[in-house]
Amino acid sequence: MASKVNAKVPSFVSRYRDPQAIAVDALDKVVLRPAPSFLPMVVSSFHINEDIVLPSFCPAPTHRVEKALHTLDLRSVSLLAAEAYTHSPVSPNERLGEKDFTNKNRNHNYTRVDFTVIAPRITLPGPQISSLAASVPVVLQQRGVHHSVIPHGKPGRSAVSGVVATVFGATGFLGRYVVNRLGRIGSQVVIPYRCDQYDIMYLRPMGDLGQLTFMEWDPRDRDSTRQALQHSNVVINLVGREWETRNFSFQDVFVNIPRDIASLAREAGVEKFIHMSHLNADIKSPSKLLRNKAVGEEAVREAYPDAIIVKPAEMYGREDQFLNYYANMRRFGGVPLISLGQKTVKQPIYVVDVAKAIVNIIKDPDSAGKTYALAGPHRYLLQDLVKYIFAVAHRPLLQYPMPRPIYHLIGKFFELNPFDKWTSRDKVDRFHITDMKYPDLPGLEDLGILPTPLEQKAIEVLRRHRRYRWLDADLDVAKPATPVNF
Ligand SMILES: NC(=O)c1ccc[n+]([C@@H]2O[C@H](COP(=O)([O-])OP(=O)(O)OC[C@H]3O[C@@H](n4cnc5c(N)ncnc54)[C@H](OP(=O)(O)O)[C@@H]3O)[C@@H](O)[C@H]2O)c1
Repeated sequence: MASKVNAKVPSFVSRYRDPQAIAVDALDKVVLRPAPSFLPMVVSSFHINEDIVLPSFCPAPTHRVEKALHTLDLRSVSLLAAEAYTHSPVSPNERLGEKDFTNKNRNHNYTRVDFTVIAPRITLPGPQISSLAASVPVVLQQRGVHHSVIPHGKPGRSAVSGVVATVFGATGFLGRYVVNRLGRIGSQVVIPYRCDQYDIMYLRPMGDLGQLTFMEWDPRDRDSTRQALQHSNVVINLVGREWETRNFSFQDVFVNIPRDIASLAREAGVEKFIHMSHLNADIKSPSKLLRNKAVGEEAVREAYPDAIIVKPAEMYGREDQFLNYYANMRRFGGVPLISLGQKTVKQPIYVVDVAKAIVNIIKDPDSAGKTYALAGPHRYLLQDLVKYIFAVAHRPLLQYPMPRPIYHLIGKFFELNPFDKWTSRDKVDRFHITDMKYPDLPGLEDLGILPTPLEQKAIEVLRRHRRYRWLDADLDVAKPATPVNF
């Protein structure tokens, strides 16, 4: 059998005759080196670009079949695999007799490794190897698993989207929607976190097995940032905080950390860096957060000129700090508003639309260096918006005007809380700033997304604020807020 096999090899391998292409380093070991473009299922320094050592199949062959396998030519078996990967058929008389193997595997979807790319990088010269048959089970096992998991015909979470994204701030409100959207198209997501690992268990089912990689992260340690993004082709910065802490000022969170991430992403050759700013980021803003957001945009652009800046309006969704914030005010007996909310116009956006926008930005080949302004479909007076929130929540509303200095005093009181600050002076100012309009910047429609009206999704957020007997009450009784045009 061995001589029969070897006799057929020359014509079969003629297309791949490069003597450097295939090599052995010992009689019982083969080392294959993947091409740099090879994308493993698990992103870690262990799995990436690691040599693949094919194990010894049978060190002391005695049986006739064992001996035959041990005299198989490395090239012939490798080419058998190449044929399966590339779907390039080989004429029947060129085959090695293992028709079952090739035919069976032709039905599988071999898209992850281009063997013709791998072959030239295999190390060490040498024509034959006694243990080569072991390579066949390696190939079979990996593809077999995928064949049974990937739904045929349609892309999904088990597909390979080609996106390997590091999402800084994935543990926040927007982060979970972004990770979910990336996971469902079959991306690998690196999630740097600084909290307890049990606090982020909810993220784990958002990607296929092994597709989400969690890494402890210290934003002040550049090495840990570098480690988190070095294997990614997309980096997304969602880091943010509504208040300053003893350890991190707004400048740290919105300028220094983004600048570090941007410069390290550039150093690492990351293809896309997406930075989350704010629609109202402005160097002259009364809000310190928004002033720092504006400085952060400049810092990011300086460190990574092709950075993509996303400026969303206030986002709403189940875990938001916008609709929930106003709905929770009922506990304080009513909603205080500066000028009764008649001088503030808001254009809130659904958080899922922002997550979709981020994924579309990643897919868009022309997005590099652009700034996107994302806002909802309608603009509302803050007063009308609050009325609508309470109408959907089936709660009685008491709105009353509050002068800014007194509102600031209340904010200052809440700032004394050493933990999550329910409100602050900065938040009072931020929520009373009219949302800016950016007609010249691309928005949701330019990314192929139809903005979701507030009236369609507000109930998702506000149902939990209803009393039990109104839980399933019809939404029609809540009169939608009247949109304004300024
Ligand atoms: N929410 C909105 O309506 C809205 C509107 C416009 C723009 N934005 C911007 O969009 C981004 C995401 O918003 P979000 O609502 O998802 O924010 P979020 O819920 O507050 O989450 C912020 C994320 O940043 C992380 N983070 C905060 N401070 C950090 C620090 N010092 N070091 C390391 N990580 C830190 C948090 O990690 P931990 O969980 O460990 O704290 C969390 O993962 C932010 O930049 C925000 O300013 C938000």
